[in-house]
Amino acid sequence: MERDILRFTTAGSVDDGKSTLVGRLLHEAGGVYDDQIEAARRVSRDSLEFAFVTDGLRAEREQGITIDVGYRYFATQRRKFIIADTPGHEQYTRNMATGASTADLALVLVDAGKGVLPQTRRHACIAWLLGIPRILVVVNKMDLAGYRKETFDSIRADFEVFTGKLKGAAIDFIPVSALAGENLSSPSSRMPWYRGPSVIEYLDTVPIQTVRGDLPFRLSIQYVVRTGDFRGYAGQIASGTVRAGDELLVLPSGRRARVASLPERTTGRHERAFAPMSVCVELDDHVDAGRGDMFADPANGPTVGRRFRSVLVWMSETPLAVGSPYLVKHTTQQVCAEVVGIVSKLDITTLENDPAEELKLNDIGRVVIETHRPLFWDPYSANRATGAFILIDPMTNLTVGAGMIESADSGCEQAPARAVGQTGLTIWFTGLSSAGKTTLSQAVFERLWATGARVQILDGDEVRRHLSKDLGFSKEDRDENIRRIGFVAELLTRNGVIVLVSAISPYRTVRDELRVRIGDFVEVYVNAPLAVCEERDVKGLYRKARSGELRAFTGVSDPYEAPLSPEVECRTDLETLNESVDKVLRHVDQRRKT
Ligand code: ADX
Repeated sequence: MERDILRFTTAGSVDDGKSTLVGRLLHEAGGVYDDQIEAARRVSRDSLEFAFVTDGLRAEREQGITIDVGYRYFATQRRKFIIADTPGHEQYTRNMATGASTADLALVLVDAGKGVLPQTRRHACIAWLLGIPRILVVVNKMDLAGYRKETFDSIRADFEVFTGKLKGAAIDFIPVSALAGENLSSPSSRMPWYRGPSVIEYLDTVPIQTVRGDLPFRLSIQYVVRTGDFRGYAGQIASGTVRAGDELLVLPSGRRARVASLPERTTGRHERAFAPMSVCVELDDHVDAGRGDMFADPANGPTVGRRFRSVLVWMSETPLAVGSPYLVKHTTQQVCAEVVGIVSKLDITTLENDPAEELKLNDIGRVVIETHRPLFWDPYSANRATGAFILIDPMTNLTVGAGMIESADSGCEQAPARAVGQTGLTIWFTGLSSAGKTTLSQAVFERLWATGARVQILDGDEVRRHLSKDLGFSKEDRDENIRRIGFVAELLTRNGVIVLVSAISPYRTVRDELRVRIGDFVEVYVNAPLAVCEERDVKGLYRKARSGELRAFTGVSDPYEAPLSPEVECRTDLETLNESVDKVLRHVDQRRKT
């Protein structure tokens, strides 16, 4: 019979007997399988994620569980247990950094002589925030409390006042003496007043919830495999399932491609693969994707953005500094980031959210984070793997915080962009030649300039004289031209500038790619019917195109793909210039307010 697996974490305070308890559990359960693990570890040596050699552990292997030094293993007749018996901080870090499947249960120890300490509350609270569905409070050292029911009851009551506020948490209590072995594997005769299960009975029978079931597909690319003509994208599936033939959304490019195959070393190929398997994906189309990019379910993609709210557990002696540079490690991405504001700090006793200026060691707060490049994320409550991250101090390279993303944040009320006091934005004017892009962007420039804003125009004609001097008008060259403009626009936007781009930019895909890449992006469709543009023929190019003197001219002998849902559309043949400018500015204002 396959035994199922229960993963749990242990948390306690100094001297509450945690190691005694864990030691006794391993011993009393009888089925320690550490030896097998040791053997397997020797075979695989340095790799953290190694294939188990013993058959009984196949299930773990299939689930891709990472075996690491911080874990302990034991088994009973019914179940196998994996204990994340690591110091508190490391545990959060590991969960957050790897998006590893979190524990099914948190075992929180309370010393009967000391009662519920702040640290106990903190651990229970973090376990709950991490989404660990069940908390077992083991009241230890009952021998020193004379095995009195009153002691146990009062600790339980004390704790319940607090945990009652942790919505959805299932909490149970067991009185034990780890030292004397009371209530560990069999009912204690010293505490006949307690009628519940012993710790091992409890662990053996407590229901296990499966979490990652039918979540939408997410895979963050770890590396690109290139051999000869073959190109594959390798990574661990964070959630969901993938099959050959599935269409995938590639982020940040926004392109779509189909899975050609899922090559695999031993059997040739997978029919289907699912979280948390590590796979290699071959696509049927050449897409330009690399480490940190993501494949996702096109019908149900992640949020793409640079600014989000999250719950953050602060783990450094040095308090969190708003405005200081940090690195965010999220899935396979590592990006520069800044905590732009502290929304609140959790009071660990009352569970109230209080205003706060800083977060100190062990504080739990809600913060707004802004990253330099967009991240592809889901709320932690919906997807642990794509909702978790860690913060690293770039100077010391130490992990200083572990976070859970809650929601997007556009909140200009939090803080203006650093140093310049203005949030950057790219306003992208696209349309046919002579549709009025340059005129409109100039007029918008003047109006914004007058308000004191920092504005920069990037005009196609101008850029082609310098940055894109080497480019012609093939699709490849036009896309390259647009990517270069996009690159500059992105840099300026990051630095708080309002960038006004006017370029024909005839291809939808590359415009959409930039929308995702830049994030703060407004597409303005400068629309006038071809006949009107042709009649205006500002530069006399339509005439040349019609006479055959000029080849591949947009609208005449080359395609123009109109935006499908631009933020603003200006019909320059029907509106006055002022009306068009107002439309654009209204949208920009709205955007900067929300
Ligand atoms: S894009 O297609 O690459 O986005 P961009 O806006 O940078 O075009 O440059 C277009 C300008 O190049 C036009 O305004 C026009 O002056 C000039 N041009 C020269 N040849 C062509 C052509 N074949 N198609 C479009 N524009 C052309």
